[in-house]
Amino acid sequence: MKFYTTTPIFYVNDKPHLGTAYAISMAATMNEYRKLIGFETLFLTGVDEHGQKIQQTAEKRKVTPQEHCDEFAKNFIQTWKDLEINYDIFYRTTDPKHKSAVQTLLQNLYDQGDIYEQNYEGWYCVSDETFYPEDDLVNGKSPTGKPVEKVSEKNYFFKMSKYQTQLLEHIKSNPDFIQPESKKNEVLGFLSKPLEDLSISRPKSRIHWGIEIPFDKEHVTYVWVDALSNYAAAVGLYSDEEKFEAWWNKATVQHIIGKDILVTHAVYWCTLLLALKLKLPDQIFATGWILNKDSGKMSKSEGEVLDPLQVVKDVGLESFKYYIASEIRFGNDAPFSQELVIQKINSDLANTLGNLLSRSTNLIAKFYDGLIPDGTSDVTELKTVGLNLFSQVKDYILKNEPHNACTEIIGYLKLINQFVETKAPWKMAKENPEEAAVILRDTLEALRISAILLSPILKNKMSSLFECLNYKFDLSNAEEECQNWYGLTTGSKINKPEPLFPRI
Ligand code: ME8
Repeated sequence: MKFYTTTPIFYVNDKPHLGTAYAISMAATMNEYRKLIGFETLFLTGVDEHGQKIQQTAEKRKVTPQEHCDEFAKNFIQTWKDLEINYDIFYRTTDPKHKSAVQTLLQNLYDQGDIYEQNYEGWYCVSDETFYPEDDLVNGKSPTGKPVEKVSEKNYFFKMSKYQTQLLEHIKSNPDFIQPESKKNEVLGFLSKPLEDLSISRPKSRIHWGIEIPFDKEHVTYVWVDALSNYAAAVGLYSDEEKFEAWWNKATVQHIIGKDILVTHAVYWCTLLLALKLKLPDQIFATGWILNKDSGKMSKSEGEVLDPLQVVKDVGLESFKYYIASEIRFGNDAPFSQELVIQKINSDLANTLGNLLSRSTNLIAKFYDGLIPDGTSDVTELKTVGLNLFSQVKDYILKNEPHNACTEIIGYLKLINQFVETKAPWKMAKENPEEAAVILRDTLEALRISAILLSPILKNKMSSLFECLNYKFDLSNAEEECQNWYGLTTGSKINKPEPLFPRI
């Protein structure tokens, strides 16, 4: 089973900030979980390099747009490397292969009569790269509060309205197509009014930095049409049929995006796909925002942004990843501060997970010469809950609820702590070493299963934990490994752990 996960491709008008880092980190975490639950995965990210906004930024910096894009694309690549984001494809829309895919797509639409020419008069917001009808303006600004300018020019239009009914039917008959539910309702609300057609070109006299329209050399492609095509072009649309069949038609395709760009994805992109008679993505999942101090979306144009590299320097890379996956309900907005991360890490990772590891390994060092003791167990709750944990986590991941998956795992770790506390193996180790051995062995097995299920987020920390337990974890066998209560090797040496999560 193939699962293809995409992130938005980020504008290169600025460096990555904590909001964009959140977006890619969460998509990466979901991708890692899908590997764990047995999917063959492909993870796409990249940068959105054309459009008026990039052209203007390059002009301000007195470099060519291409020079600007090359420099900023590198910036994204380096930041994602520092954040240990494990993507398969980094896509750039200035790649000649992308240009050719977009031009074929537009030519096909033109040839089938879905594109026409008309004069456009109205408002354009460069920051959002979006046209707004007069009625949508709020106090003379775009609905997102950005400046707009009046434009009057010849444009090519895509007959988006022609596909409105078909799109509505698709949304209604595929309940998981747009998630979370509240976001689906927003799209349905948008579609309850008649759709306008979509301007898909810009005259070169106003903006030259874009992909030339194949049937009119005086125009370039509207940046959203150019950008949205990345998802399909990256897996071979109009260039590699076999790949496209495997990773678009036969795979589960999920676009993880911010809620700010839901309409462009659910409406623009999906009507384009319907017109081209291509499969729609299986799911569009809209995430919430990391908020700034004034509870608005964290972004450069809205004020102060946090540097993700500074954040991970302060709190630790995997602590950051754990915090955003476990504490922020996927799909909701959330504030962010170092204090919030520290509180969560101290409670879940230092107190619950870290303590359990050091306590159990200390007892084994003290009473069993540091060797993993044997023991067959008839314990019920710990074993039953533990052997069921994989399937619970899997269910939550399939429902896009990583926060609940984490709660479940931490809940289990608390149960293990309670088990050790109640059984008090240190009291019986001298008189009844067999019984104490069973308790400690059960504890270690339960800890091992929890660690497997946290490893998509805490990759390095959990591999240190596996090393400590002398356990070779094989990702391709995760399900089996979680359903085997005796996965550790009896008699193998516990390697004394460094404190994994020292209290901050
Ligand atoms: O919109 N909190 O690019 P973009 C959470 N190029 N997520 C945030 C965020 C925040 N404060 N700020 C940004 C574009 N994001 C287009 C996309 S896709 C074909 C083209 C995330 O750089 C959020 O997911 O402005 C948003 O949708 C994405 O970054 C892209 O932002």
